[in-house]
Amino acid sequence: MTLDLLLWAVLPYVTITVFVGGIAWRYRHDRFGWTTRSSQLHESRLLRIGGPLFHVGLLFVLAGHVGGLLVPASVTRWLGVRDELYHLVSLGAGGLAGLATLVGLGVLLHRRWRTPAVRAATSRDDRLTYPVLAAVLLLGMAATVLTNGVGGGYDYRSTISPWVRGILLLHPDPALMRDVPLPYRLHALAAMALFVLWPFSRLVHALTVPLHYLVRPYIVYRSRDERLAARPAPRGWDGR
Ligand code: HEM
Repeated sequence: MTLDLLLWAVLPYVTITVFVGGIAWRYRHDRFGWTTRSSQLHESRLLRIGGPLFHVGLLFVLAGHVGGLLVPASVTRWLGVRDELYHLVSLGAGGLAGLATLVGLGVLLHRRWRTPAVRAATSRDDRLTYPVLAAVLLLGMAATVLTNGVGGGYDYRSTISPWVRGILLLHPDPALMRDVPLPYRLHALAAMALFVLWPFSRLVHALTVPLHYLVRPYIVYRSRDERLAARPAPRGWDGR
């Protein structure tokens, strides 16, 4: 029980504290480093395939998580959605979205490994973040496809979902996680590891939308050539 308490009642709050505190810290101290560190200039063909597959897939996966984990089963029943239908849709749509995300990540990792310039631009925090991200996705798919699908079904809305809501409402109940099948528990633990890494990696870009790109002024590039740099600066925009 002590381990259950640590994993399912203490660890989630440590994770939330590091996530929120880390984001605030990074925003205050490293705003110029708040970036995707785009490698599009090095390679764009594979990026054009992997990027959208990964991001669009993930958007659907996360929308499914909000529905499945935060909305109680009593609400979907009250709305007239039968449990069997819910199960089928969550399995089909969740599985497809998860597959797209996983294939997208596969393309992006292949590109990162095989393109020398992209590989050279890969940082230490990338080397830590990508395996954890891949583990979260693989374990999520194992839970959905193997345990919930082929394995005959598992009603995570009666255990994991109330556990998540309990954490958010500040009355955690670790007992809810005790008999949950292993792939789900490993998936949740890997997800917590990802949330801990989040503020210190390029994943921070997911928390902002760069709307200022639409209205920002031109970026001025200045030549390093001494003779040109010594030339009197033209007044304003000269059309060259
Ligand atoms: C503590 C946080 C999380 C919890 C409690 C959680 C819970 C779940 C559950 C219960 C499922 C299985 C759904 C089913 O059986 O049909 C699942 C699947 C999945 N999860 Fe998570 N998850 C978490 C975070 C994440 C994160 C951060 C990601 C991605 C970065 C992710 C990616 C996936 C994927 C790809 C699947 C399989 C496809 C799907 O069913 O949508 N999960 N997760």
